[in-house]
Amino acid sequence: MAKRQETLWELNEHSLGKHLVLKSYINAWFPILSKYNGRLLFIDGFAGPGEYNNGYIGSPLIALDAALNHQHQAVREQEIVFFFIENDKKRLDHLKSLIEERYPNLPSNFKVHFSESKFDAAMTHLLDYIEEQNKKLAPCFAMIDPFGVSDTPMSIVHRILKNPKAEVYVSVMYEYINRFLGSPEFEPHLNELFGGNEWVQAKAIEDKHEKKEFLYQVYKSKLKESRATNAIHFELFKGNRHVYSIFFATQSWMGTDKMKSAIWNIAPGGDFVFRGMANNELDLASPDYGPLIDAIVEQFSGRWVTPRRIAEFVGSDRTDYHSSQFKKNALKVLEKDERLTIHPEDAHKRKKRFTYRDDIRLMIDAEPRD
Ligand SMILES: C[S@@+](CC[C@H](N)C(=O)[O-])C[C@H]1O[C@@H](n2cnc3c(N)ncnc32)[C@H](O)[C@@H]1O
Repeated sequence: MAKRQETLWELNEHSLGKHLVLKSYINAWFPILSKYNGRLLFIDGFAGPGEYNNGYIGSPLIALDAALNHQHQAVREQEIVFFFIENDKKRLDHLKSLIEERYPNLPSNFKVHFSESKFDAAMTHLLDYIEEQNKKLAPCFAMIDPFGVSDTPMSIVHRILKNPKAEVYVSVMYEYINRFLGSPEFEPHLNELFGGNEWVQAKAIEDKHEKKEFLYQVYKSKLKESRATNAIHFELFKGNRHVYSIFFATQSWMGTDKMKSAIWNIAPGGDFVFRGMANNELDLASPDYGPLIDAIVEQFSGRWVTPRRIAEFVGSDRTDYHSSQFKKNALKVLEKDERLTIHPEDAHKRKKRFTYRDDIRLMIDAEPRD
């Protein structure tokens, strides 16, 4: 962790996962939203100085690089506003000069705004202004990445998530929560962080995994007391020690799907773990698709359904998997077991066995046939 007075510090290895997932996700997010919308907004609420002493770049540069070098021309030509909030003057100044130096000819469709203030104050100002104008925030991705847990009130997260097509990527320092859970002076911070006092019940939970699971469920359900329909998280480790977690909330199953895909693609080589719905650690290097098959059978057996509909379910926060995984690892397995029937009227749409066009109707048997 950076000393409070240092302008730059070294990026810890366990934080690398946060950046790799961010980069992979926004690479997918920019083109999805640029298809449908005018201006996009990337908010970095705790922007930092833009680089680290050990050579890594920070989140503001990761976002700018992703937009500038995007393989889709539509993204490179998209109007994107980057809003970097940082309350430490030296760090913000460092970020400003780094951006000037690195991008001397930033295209005019990319607009960079800086705010030397606290995240909650800057966001309150922006959201008040938008409300006064009777406008909605442009579709936005807000990265909320503090050092501790005191400056990220759920009330602000909710105000962001009340806008259409808004998403948040929040780092939550579980170590702090756990350490200070019993101290009365920390209670107001936790009330703010969780947006209520439901977390108090965690004090009575002895088992440390159960306690964490409980707190995470509270946090996710609070995130969803907004327009967000999906909330997931992954955990960052230093050796065996869990340090913090990243929560992602969005209004779109497709956003959730892309985020899970980013985690699946990056996690096996990184120092972090994707914990799924039951808070069980998922082995992403040699995955077990049994739970995916079970979830699909439970949700859809006994009726006609299209792969398009199954993709929405798999991609949402109701499973731990993403939508590129279910055809090969679930539908094909079910068909080999003779538990999957293609609708006779759609059979002609199929060129080969074990292929599943998004619009064909299929039915899955609840139980294996005798
Ligand atoms: C974990 S670092 C951010 C790292 C950056 N997001 C990245 O990934 O490269 C947190 C930053 O937030 C700044 N900060 C701390 N409290 C803040 C607040 N209330 N509002 C805005 N910035 C704050 C710190 O000065 C620090 O630079």
